[in-house]
Amino acid sequence: MSDYRFIKACWGQPVDMTPVWLMRQAGRYLPQYMEVRRNVSFLELCKTPELAAEVTIQPIDYLGADAAILFSDILTPVEPMGLKLDFAPGPVFENPVRTQADIDALRIPEMEEDVPYVLETIRILRREFEGRVPLIGFGGAPFTLACYMVEGKGSKDFAQIKRMMYAEPQMYAALMDKVTEMDRLYLNAQIEAGAQAIQIFDTWGGILSPVDYERYILPYTTRLIDGLNRQGVPVIHFVKGAGTMLELVKRAGSDVIGLDWHISLNKARTLLGTEVAVQGNLDPTVLYAQPEYIEQEVKRILDENGDRPGHIFNLGHGILPTVPPEHAKFMVECVHRLSAKG
Ligand code: CP3
Repeated sequence: MSDYRFIKACWGQPVDMTPVWLMRQAGRYLPQYMEVRRNVSFLELCKTPELAAEVTIQPIDYLGADAAILFSDILTPVEPMGLKLDFAPGPVFENPVRTQADIDALRIPEMEEDVPYVLETIRILRREFEGRVPLIGFGGAPFTLACYMVEGKGSKDFAQIKRMMYAEPQMYAALMDKVTEMDRLYLNAQIEAGAQAIQIFDTWGGILSPVDYERYILPYTTRLIDGLNRQGVPVIHFVKGAGTMLELVKRAGSDVIGLDWHISLNKARTLLGTEVAVQGNLDPTVLYAQPEYIEQEVKRILDENGDRPGHIFNLGHGILPTVPPEHAKFMVECVHRLSAKG
């Protein structure tokens, strides 16, 4: 059994106070991150274990968060599948996947050879953090990875991936099979290297109707989660925009379900039942508000959870680069102070 309050909360065990971390907690809102980033590109930063470890630690030192998340990107393991990746600042693939030949050409990376820097960063961090905070590894959900691989970049309407899904269903299935297998190997390599929890980010899972989520996304995410060598490592599954589909998300089989801010925490917990923990769900833009307002919103979310075990406080999506860092630090303080038992 773990002594970390973050890990205990993932398992729905009682904790002394609500654990808290922030999605995208290492990043541009922190001057100390910008300092490191001045000299290297984002991809170089991801590929240099000492630097990636340094920026992973920054928000632990500064914010006092209860968990660290590996510094990398969901698209890191897609590059060695054969796609040329750049960040400008959002991800861009020079050669997106559009045909069956493109799919056939994708290779399944050898993790120790193709992304050694990710695994080395994890090993460094485990040594650095021992006894201090647990380390979360992560990956994109197969669907979100496929969105970027097919669109070639972010998109407003996701016409290319949806065209493939509806008009070329066998191609879509072949691509998703390959991405899911890559993802399984990638996340298992992270667990093997020492990741103490795994978060799966399905940023674009909310763009489909519930029926299509069940047809085109759920089978792959379920297969991925089933295929993880979990051995005591909790799995967090975050589907942005899951709204009314949370019961489907639950069927994928994670230990914790991430919530954006479009559903009240109370309603989500009532819907999901007590056997699954939840993480969330403050609107990230609330961190622009005055401290009194931030405190009031933290309290509201803690009150919505009530005394149900298995709540990890977080934002409903990544922290924005223009948020004052002291507001994020204040939020973490509020969560701890307002939830402390006794
Ligand atoms: O602190 C952490 O949370 C760990 C690091 C992390 C990054 N990306 C670093 C990053 C994590 C967990 C991610 C996940 C990620 N990456 C997701 C899923 C979560 C989400 O936000 O929805 C997605 C969709 C991506 C793809 C991606 N990477 C986008 C769309 C962008 C550009 C958006 C932006 O913020 O500019 C990135 C770049 C990126 N990933 C940065 C960081 C710190 C900014 C890079 C920089 O210029 O320094």
